[in-house]
Amino acid sequence: MRTLLASLAVACIAMGGSAFAADKVCKLEITGTDVMQFDKKELKIAGDCTQVALTLKHAGKLNAQVMGHNWVLTQTSDADAVIKAGLAAGVKSGYLPVGDKRVIASTKTIGGGQSTSITFPTSKLKKGGDYKFFCSFAGHAALMSGKFIFG
Ligand code: CO
Repeated sequence: MRTLLASLAVACIAMGGSAFAADKVCKLEITGTDVMQFDKKELKIAGDCTQVALTLKHAGKLNAQVMGHNWVLTQTSDADAVIKAGLAAGVKSGYLPVGDKRVIASTKTIGGGQSTSITFPTSKLKKGGDYKFFCSFAGHAALMSGKFIFG
C-alpha cells in the first residue's frame, strides 16, 4: 500500500510537470511614442506558442489623457467596428467597448514613461488567421496599427 501511494504521488508530480512543460509562453514587446506611432507594424508568434506575454511601453512624455496608448487585438474584419465602438464608449472606458467579445486581448491605457503587460492564451486564435492590433485611443488607430501573425 505504501508503495502504491508513493507511485501515485510520483505519477501526479510527473503529470503536473509535463503539463507545465507543454506551456510555451511567447514574449512580445511594442512601444508607442508621443508622435502617435508604434515601433512595429507586425508582431509574430510561432504556432506552438500557448500563451502570449505582451508588454506595451510608452516612450514619450505626454500623459495618458493627451497621448494615451493601449494595445488591442481583434480579427482584422472586426477592427473598424471595435474602434468605432471604442470611440462611443469614450475615455472612461479607455476607448474600448466593455465586455466586447470581438476583443481578443487588450491592455490598459498608459501615458508617457509607463509600461503595462498582459498575458493571453493562443487558444483564442486560429493559426494563419487574419488579426490586427491597434491603439483604440480616439483617433490613434489610423496610425497606430499593425498585423498580428500566429503560426
Ligand atoms: Co495611442
